Amino acid sequence: MTIPFIDLQAQRLRLAGKIEAAVQEAVVGGAWVMGPQVRQFEQDLAAFGKAKHALGCANGTDALALPLMAWDIGHGDAVFVPSFTFAATAEVVPWFHAVPVFVDVDPKTYNMDPKALEAAIEGVLKEGKRKPRVVIAVDLFGQPADYPAIKAICDRYGMKLIADSAQGFGCTIDGRHPLEWADITTTSFFPAKPLGCYGDGGAVLTNDDLLAELIDSIRVHGKAVGIDLKDRTFEHETKYLNMRIGLNSRLDTIQAAVLIEKLKVFPQEIEWRNRIAARYNEGLRPHVAAVPDVPAGNISNWAQYTIEHDDRDGLAAHLKAQGVPTAVYYPIPLHLQPAYERYPRGAGGLPVTERLKDRVISLPMHADLDEATQDRIIAAVASFKG
Ligand SMILES: Cc1ncc(COP(=O)(O)O)c(C=O)c1O
Repeated sequence: MTIPFIDLQAQRLRLAGKIEAAVQEAVVGGAWVMGPQVRQFEQDLAAFGKAKHALGCANGTDALALPLMAWDIGHGDAVFVPSFTFAATAEVVPWFHAVPVFVDVDPKTYNMDPKALEAAIEGVLKEGKRKPRVVIAVDLFGQPADYPAIKAICDRYGMKLIADSAQGFGCTIDGRHPLEWADITTTSFFPAKPLGCYGDGGAVLTNDDLLAELIDSIRVHGKAVGIDLKDRTFEHETKYLNMRIGLNSRLDTIQAAVLIEKLKVFPQEIEWRNRIAARYNEGLRPHVAAVPDVPAGNISNWAQYTIEHDDRDGLAAHLKAQGVPTAVYYPIPLHLQPAYERYPRGAGGLPVTERLKDRVISLPMHADLDEATQDRIIAAVASFKG
């Protein structure tokens, strides 16, 4: 029997009709855009993420664009991003005619290397063509980036910090969420994400009141918000007073209804994912070049369980023949992609990223992965004589 890579139907069945009931209620309720479920979910999400504000939006890509728009990032600005990530992290930067600068990652955590970041910033300053404005750190595969070190660098250079937690939402460092250090956390509710909905969705979390207001405005076509109405009266709906260029990026009511139910079980699922990852580590360590390295104090949500192997493609073929699906994140890092190769790279290049692309392979991982199935996967990896 083929094993699913991520088994979302198992989760749906475990929740025993709660999601279907919530969707039904949202449909019958009729407030399909910005309905009460959206407000409810935003409150629940803020409480979970220990944030003053949580705002839903259409997807995790828009979630990254919203703060760039609020901060007026544009021509002549440099935004520092890893290359070993999904395209969305860098994609939003040229939307506003700013330039993404690619930074190498740490060989153990696969997250942005603070030393490489500092070298990249110094390189941009030396060149003198662009102003370093923002760092987007990614919680790759669910593991928090090195926020204490990255935040210290951002403070030194007067830069903003975005935590792209599309994969890692729920991850912590010594019990603290990335927002303890970042100006804003962004996330995605794409179905395969650890906290996913049944379509597209995203959110931002921040403790910055002004930033939250600006994003609330920008996500609805730049509608007037509190700060805009201090010295002005407007007697119609505020969405018909447009104060800034915005976009249409709202979380659907039906998706919010799904997410309210999923968030209730999310802390428990993070625990299960950690138990599954620990079991994988133990079973696989003797058979592969590297199992994931999560530094003490860090909690990953295990969006992916990713190992390294000297014959990665051989292992993938072997596992496929045994009914075990795998995935490669990411076979081509962004700085080598046709769309992005023109953009600058940090001083010293990206040797770690370029090595990882040929070695990493992700195995099935989800909260409902049972031990018998996991044992089959471990045995299949162990039986590869590459
Ligand atoms: C690191 C990262 N950033 C951003 C995104 C974009 O999220 P979305 O697909 O919801 O736009 C994703 C996921 O797809 C991602 O993995």
